[in-house]
Amino acid sequence: MCGITGYIGYREAYPIVIKGLQRLEYRGYDSAGIMLFDGQDIHVTKTKGKVVDLEALANNDEKSKKGSTGIGHTRWATHGVPNDVNSHPHTSMSGNLVIVHNGIIENYDTIKKELINRGYTFKSDTDTEVLVNLIEEVKKTEDCKLGKAVQIALNQVVGAYAIAVFDKSKTNEIVVARLGSPIAIGIGKDYKEFFVASDASPFIEYTNKAIYLEDEEMAVIKVGKGVKVRKIKDDSLVDTTIQELQLSLEQIEKGGYDHFMLKEIHEQPKAIQDTFRGRMLADEGIIKMSSVSNHLEKFLNADRIIIVACGTSWHAGLVGEYLFEDIARIPVEVEYASEFRYRNPIITEKDIVIAISQSGETADTLAAIKLAKSKGAFVFGVCNVVGSSIARETHSGSYTHAGPEIGVASTKAFTTQITVLTLIALKLGKAKGNISQTDFNSYIQMMRLIPSQVEKVLESDEHVKYISSIYKDATNCLYLGRGFNFPVALEGALKLKEISYIHAEGYPAAEMKHGPIALIDENMPIFVIATNKGHYEKVVSNIQEIKSRAGKIIAVVTEGDTTVKEIADHVIEIPETAEALTPLLTTIPLQLLSYHIAVMLGKNVDQPRNLAKSVTVE
Ligand code: G6P
Repeated sequence: MCGITGYIGYREAYPIVIKGLQRLEYRGYDSAGIMLFDGQDIHVTKTKGKVVDLEALANNDEKSKKGSTGIGHTRWATHGVPNDVNSHPHTSMSGNLVIVHNGIIENYDTIKKELINRGYTFKSDTDTEVLVNLIEEVKKTEDCKLGKAVQIALNQVVGAYAIAVFDKSKTNEIVVARLGSPIAIGIGKDYKEFFVASDASPFIEYTNKAIYLEDEEMAVIKVGKGVKVRKIKDDSLVDTTIQELQLSLEQIEKGGYDHFMLKEIHEQPKAIQDTFRGRMLADEGIIKMSSVSNHLEKFLNADRIIIVACGTSWHAGLVGEYLFEDIARIPVEVEYASEFRYRNPIITEKDIVIAISQSGETADTLAAIKLAKSKGAFVFGVCNVVGSSIARETHSGSYTHAGPEIGVASTKAFTTQITVLTLIALKLGKAKGNISQTDFNSYIQMMRLIPSQVEKVLESDEHVKYISSIYKDATNCLYLGRGFNFPVALEGALKLKEISYIHAEGYPAAEMKHGPIALIDENMPIFVIATNKGHYEKVVSNIQEIKSRAGKIIAVVTEGDTTVKEIADHVIEIPETAEALTPLLTTIPLQLLSYHIAVMLGKNVDQPRNLAKSVTVE
């Protein structure tokens, strides 16, 4: 959680750092702060609230915007409530060192007590202020430069961090370090300027050259000289590679949409296409995925697949369970990474663990991977962010290629994760001889149609908006689905909760009578996925049960449906496809619905309260 960014060079740092923070706000937005160094003095401006609030504050004092060195932070609180004092940057007691930090220092209390004994005083409740003072203390006692002090101090802390530190007595450098939280260093022409950030989005218009620090690495960045990367543990120099970034500015801007979420919903036809591009070769009747083929024996001989993930990615994992069991006939268990990592799970070398994560940085998922690896399992990653920690930690994996997802409520990540899982299930199903070439080809043909079919579902936007206007004031909603669409019901409910703060529950339709049915009355909207495949008749019976209790029914049905149309209060149609592929279509209207309701209720769609896009803490 938290976004950090910084600039050192010859330009005005303020606009670069502020814009960078805006782009990183998806990582946290309960407070924001900035430090500017004007060549003489350090100016720290920080406040509870969002980056706009920080800008408003900075506008009151021109001094706070001056200088060509700056670091900034947008926070998702872990230690200390979100308030002005706890906001970053934090300054050491002498006022010489300034730090921004993403992560948690777990042993901060012990260190704080030691520092207090040595005469240090603290303004905030944060672990970060402890860290900056520890660095200061080391610098003093060891009489060393900032880089060395950071290295020694980090060897004393337990926890996770991405930090950027500035020292008033060494004005041409910034020191950064990473353990568990990402950090990228943007490299300007001839080393005349450098950028640091939690991801590359803050500096993409200035440079496409970047170094991504690995865990347990730190870097001293010196204007005019370059970047020296070292191992935190033993101070040894690391040979780094400079990467050419593929990200474009257009990808991280709203492109005419009111919100990133809406843009990302509408990007799904292209995102899904990009996910299977080059992999699904319809004319040749094959699915080409070297990440799977290179380990085919492992997949074919696996006793079971364990899928680990969090949030929306966990819902994609549930769809994966239906796909793998139905198409590839491999037993699957889907686990919340946060539970799996701590419940002493039985894992063997014949298990394949698939970790799904949009960001590739989720702490619990990362820990689950490490645990599975330590028990000898083969770990496969399905990530969106290229080069992310999870992508690097897994033995093999497939990127979803959805492009940057900035809206906190995940949309295109979900459908592209399902797309990857479908491709793998089909590939394995065929390799195991569980589906015939004819069925395989027919799946591929139907899969090919999905992007244009998603496009078609998106055309129902006005209708979905109308339905949203009717149910926007509901206080409780139920989402029902069966089979492949049970996870979609969960995801639909999650989307509504996340951005409109309306209580919603997803349930397998048939389970309704074991509890949720008691909630149904004339005020309760119930969203039912009732496509014409699978358990259609049974879902129709469930719809009848709702109707006889006066619940309001909004059903997602297959084009041409007449039965549900007669019973339901509203229907939203999706085009015909194979049952296993329906989640890619049924999800879309539910995303639109939660989007419109949240907008109508005046909620902050892209930055819902208390949430963050990337959860890099436990
Ligand atoms: C956070 C986000 C969710 C996301 C989950 C898992 O809670 O708000 O949208 O589904 O993390 O994130 P990941 O990046 O691992 O998919």
